[in-house]
Amino acid sequence: MPDTHILGIESSCDETGAAVVRSGEKILSNVVFSQIATHQPYGGVVPELASREHLRAIVPVVRKALADAGQTYESVDALAVTQGPGLAGALLVGISYAKALAFALEKPLIAVNHLEGHIHAVLLEERQKGHHEVNFPVLALVVSGGHTHLYLAEQKGQSWSYQNIGHTRDDAAGEAFDKVAKLLGLGYPGGPVIDRLSTHGDPSAVKFGPPQIKHRDRNDRGKPKDARPRFDFSYSGIKTAVLRYVETHHLKTSVDNRRQALAAIAKPTQEDYLALCDIETLNLIASFQRAVVDDLVGKTLAAASAHDVATVFVTGGVAANNELRQTFERQGAQEGLPVYFPSRPLSTDNAAMIAAAAYPKWLSRDFAAMDFSAEAGMQLRG
Ligand code: KG4
Ligand code: ZN
Repeated sequence: MPDTHILGIESSCDETGAAVVRSGEKILSNVVFSQIATHQPYGGVVPELASREHLRAIVPVVRKALADAGQTYESVDALAVTQGPGLAGALLVGISYAKALAFALEKPLIAVNHLEGHIHAVLLEERQKGHHEVNFPVLALVVSGGHTHLYLAEQKGQSWSYQNIGHTRDDAAGEAFDKVAKLLGLGYPGGPVIDRLSTHGDPSAVKFGPPQIKHRDRNDRGKPKDARPRFDFSYSGIKTAVLRYVETHHLKTSVDNRRQALAAIAKPTQEDYLALCDIETLNLIASFQRAVVDDLVGKTLAAASAHDVATVFVTGGVAANNELRQTFERQGAQEGLPVYFPSRPLSTDNAAMIAAAAYPKWLSRDFAAMDFSAEAGMQLRG
């Protein structure tokens, strides 16, 4: 089988990415232009600004990805682009550009589901390490700013199929990290900041009750009751509990002071954050993270046991979290279950994962029709 070079393009949220991956197993380049600085003053991603930033960045990012890989527009075999889920306007920038390029170069275009990309980030790096055999069934936890989803993944020949066995009923885990950081005056995005500060607090200082899911999923209404257990998540309650704690413990003034002080520092360091957080806040941060991590790990391992899986993948932006990784590794080892993560740069949004997920589709000649469009709420199925 000759080598295949796929140019991947990713623009679903606030990162413009382009990458060249060889035969689904070797990253030749992986360029990510982050828009964090643009969205930071607003405390979250502003969709309209994201589209504009993608438009500005996409040509230089693709050029750099080709140059870093020693490739040219002509030398790549195919293009791959994220179709969804994500912000519609942001997705349209990547798709329009990829379509135009594929048309001009007369090369095939492959449409990729962003969530499938996150799952293939794990496979890509395992193959890159020379580890080609993964034991099935695989259970993948995709945990990011927009998703907290559990999928059973299977491979039949070249094609992959996915069955969703759990998802968040309200906020995604990454969204909870971002909202809690915002309400504590820690800025955006919250995950990396909370991750770093949590080691300075006592994770058992504040008790959060386990998330309660009392109602049937609204997507299941009208459908016959499924006998199989579901492993759904809910993180809006814990966010509200943090807010209540801030109010009842009279932390509001210190939060406002911290927000103002951090806004005046261009690039706050860990020392800046620590100087602006008292021990009560650090304890709250550590306890919040511990509660989310315990819930993610507990439900994923319960689902793994209920479905008798052989391997667990943990991927998406929140998979970069240190405590999450350590807890999965420790508890997975206790249960004799291998748990794989992507490296940190491949946990968050990137285009190498899109090019890798496109490779099986290249092998089965599963190319996008030229009239395909962005699907903001795209689901992942078999
Ligand atoms: O996968 P991703 O880059 O974009 C989406 O598809 O959403 O994930 C971004 C999310 C953000 O919510 C961010 O706060 C979170 O991942 N995140 C983290 C960490 N690094 C990024 N959450 C916890 N700990 C981290 N170290
Ligand atoms: Zn993502």
